[in-house]
Amino acid sequence: MGHIPPVPGVGATSRPAAPTEASAAWGQTPPVPGTPTPHPAPAARPSEAPNPPTAPRDHVPTMPGGGAPSQPVTETRSSAPAEPTSPRPHAHQAPGAPASREGSAAQRTDAARSSAEPTLTSARAAAASPDAVLIRRTMDAIEPVADKTTSYFYALLFLRHPELRELFPAAMDAQRDRLFKALLTAAKHVDDTDTLTEYLSHLGRGHRKYGTRPEHYPAVGECLLGALTRYAPDVWNEEVEAAWVRAYTAISQIMIDAAAADELTSPPWWHAEVVSHERRTQDIAVITVRPDQPYPFLAGQYTSVETPWWPRVWRHYSFASAPRPDGLLSFHIKAVPAGWVSSALVNRARPGDVIRLGPPAGSMIVDHGTDNGLLCLGGGTGIAPIKALVEDVAKHGRRRSVEVFYGARSGHDLYDLDTMLRLQQEHSWLSVRPVVSEGPAGGLTGPLSEVVLRCGPWHSYDAYLSGPAGMIRSSVDALVGIGMPAHRIRHDSVAELVAAAGH
Ligand SMILES: Cc1cc2nc3c(=O)[nH]c(=O)nc-3n(C[C@H](O)[C@H](O)[C@H](O)COP(=O)(O)OP(=O)(O)OC[C@H]3O[C@@H](n4cnc5c(N)ncnc54)[C@H](O)[C@@H]3O)c2cc1C
Ligand code: HEM
Repeated sequence: MGHIPPVPGVGATSRPAAPTEASAAWGQTPPVPGTPTPHPAPAARPSEAPNPPTAPRDHVPTMPGGGAPSQPVTETRSSAPAEPTSPRPHAHQAPGAPASREGSAAQRTDAARSSAEPTLTSARAAAASPDAVLIRRTMDAIEPVADKTTSYFYALLFLRHPELRELFPAAMDAQRDRLFKALLTAAKHVDDTDTLTEYLSHLGRGHRKYGTRPEHYPAVGECLLGALTRYAPDVWNEEVEAAWVRAYTAISQIMIDAAAADELTSPPWWHAEVVSHERRTQDIAVITVRPDQPYPFLAGQYTSVETPWWPRVWRHYSFASAPRPDGLLSFHIKAVPAGWVSSALVNRARPGDVIRLGPPAGSMIVDHGTDNGLLCLGGGTGIAPIKALVEDVAKHGRRRSVEVFYGARSGHDLYDLDTMLRLQQEHSWLSVRPVVSEGPAGGLTGPLSEVVLRCGPWHSYDAYLSGPAGMIRSSVDALVGIGMPAHRIRHDSVAELVAAAGH
């Protein structure tokens, strides 16, 4: 397209990350009769769709290496976005950006379970770079129209690059803003290199399961700039655009490098066959799967799961045991009302069904370098990774005090209490205390976070928290409130960089 010099290294030098045929074949699994059908694939919902094109395509800021824009396709034409009306014919090469991929370093709602995502305090504390200042100015400008900007971004992406549509789920309402918000927030925190690198490397590796390839990055960058140009016209100029190009180049290069390095050692995803499906309560099932090749992970981590019934819809589930000699993996799944993936796994999945797993993730893992005790709080199915941690401590052989508080609404909901009590009998260093929030007084009753405080003190313990977002939040607050340093409280959340950055 030529208006913007190529973003170095985002071209075609890496070999394809994922066999798209396999992806498409999997993705085309027809809905099971009787299963609610996913919403039709919208390029942009008509009510939100930006106006029809008003300017020649050539005037759209184009991300380097993005190739020629695709022609609009008939089915998306009605919701076609308006091309940005303020032409931005020039942007700037990112100085100092790597010249090629080879030349660079190769290297619960979901809201919250356990601290995979970084906090960006260091970036906030330090003086912002000129690029960060310009980027923040753009962000402030688009904040009031963030929804429209997101819609426009996706409309542009799917209009210009219809081949990318099949990478995304049919219905994108639930999570569609995550990619766009993460992009914006990563750019905004472009100064915080270490944190960004850690977060984006993880994200880049995780993107292999979507079928994302290096050549897709310029397309996304081009549409990001197109959306910003349109919705931040008052602040947009060549200098601002150059700052965004530099930031996006850095962001995408980290993700591309991490994905390329990961290709050397790992598949983009694993197929796994359901080998047992055990219903524990009306809405909770324990599912065990056999991956098609060895699946390396650590106790306390989680993975992403796609079912054949909801192609390209991925959700996170924690491993319910430490790695086992037979290589099988277990998950505790609770079907949430109207939940797509959880309901399918609890109510439809049967032995013989094949699901897909993304790479392992999460930092709620045992620190074997300390003798501190482990204070473990598991709410609902959050007991699954806690059980894995207990098994890990047992396997490691060092006797450390492990205090588990297992919380649920009622005694009936403590579906895995027998297993936990059996573990307690086997290990003298383990104590398991059931806690119910509603129910007859007698045992431990009340919110998990309050009960735990009553049972302290906890100064010689590290905390491990897993469960619903509200439980994690109140427990973190309670433990910090009694003086436990934040770095000794572990929990994973996929609440994104966005949330970590306080947005
Ligand atoms: C790190 C991590 C680990 C996780 N581990 C597990 C696990 O081991 N076991 C497990 O069962 N889940 C786990 N989850 C939650 C899981 O990822 C899904 O969010 C959950 O299964 C719902 O997905 P769904 O597709 O069924 O529902 P969706 O289709 O995403 O949601 C459908 C509707 O249900 C609502 N909803 C979503 N979640 C809940 C909820 N928990 N309670 C009430 N309403 C809800 C949504 O707001 C929406 O309105 C984990 C989440 C994270 C972030
Ligand atoms: C360049 C910076 C990018 C950033 C910061 C980014 C960020 C994200 C984030 C945070 C998510 C949410 C789910 C997850 O954590 O995996 C996501 C999902 C996704 N991204 Fe990206 N992404 C980027 C580039 C791309 C590119 C180039 C593609 C290829 C077209 C792509 C395709 C997808 C797809 C298909 C999903 C799943 C969407 C869904 O589940 O609804 N992303 N991205």
